[in-house]
Amino acid sequence: MFVIAHLSDPHLDGTVVARDRLRSVVNYLRAFSRPVDVVLVTGDLADHGLPAEYADVAAELALDVPVLMLPGNHDVSAPLRAGLPVESPGEGHPVHQVQDVGTARFVLLDTSVPGEDHGLLSAESLEWLAGVLAEPVDGPLFVAFHHPPNKLQHPVLDQWILQDAEPFAAVLRGKPITAILTGHVHNGVSTTFAGHPLLVAPGIRSTAPLPFEPAAANGLVDVEAPPGLALHLVADGQPLVTVYRAITSS
Ligand SMILES: [Fe+2]
Ligand SMILES: [Fe+2]
Repeated sequence: MFVIAHLSDPHLDGTVVARDRLRSVVNYLRAFSRPVDVVLVTGDLADHGLPAEYADVAAELALDVPVLMLPGNHDVSAPLRAGLPVESPGEGHPVHQVQDVGTARFVLLDTSVPGEDHGLLSAESLEWLAGVLAEPVDGPLFVAFHHPPNKLQHPVLDQWILQDAEPFAAVLRGKPITAILTGHVHNGVSTTFAGHPLLVAPGIRSTAPLPFEPAAANGLVDVEAPPGLALHLVADGQPLVTVYRAITSS
């Protein structure tokens, strides 16, 4: 069995509280009786895109297994490239990557738009993605990025999702994709996009309650809700299984 630990939105900002929320999730993984095969972090790694924040991200996620990271709207391409082990050709924005771990392929897209909170993929990015997805793959194939393209039925968050999703869906439709993995909305979510499972990891830094949940009375984000993660379990010939966990201890 191949195990993916899917983390998202640690928003490290130099504060102890942000660091400890990420650290509690990492400590939880470290206590497993077998290591996960890969850790994937789907963006908003740093809160302000500062070099010192990326140094903290690198230090907190220094694990003995591959750690894949991609940018969110709070990240900034140049310091991210300088501070983290991303494998993306070129310089600056966008930071697209293809990473193979064992037989699994991860296509990591940069859906961020510099200076904006919403997501968007340019025509050039979609062309690049189509070329990558045309390559034959034998193992599980994951497409991961920060901004989900589906509305969460949330009046604020839905302004900041991936815009202009239909050309993106056209590139993904019919491809042998095991699942699409995202973050950004600070909620564990299961839905579909372009005919594929779309699985969103909870926010480590905070949770965004739905408008009708009690915590919504206190604002957009609930910083008291525990951090969480998704564990994606891949077994030969069987459907993908995802387990969501909230981490209540450090
Ligand atoms: Fe975030
Ligand atoms: Fe975000």
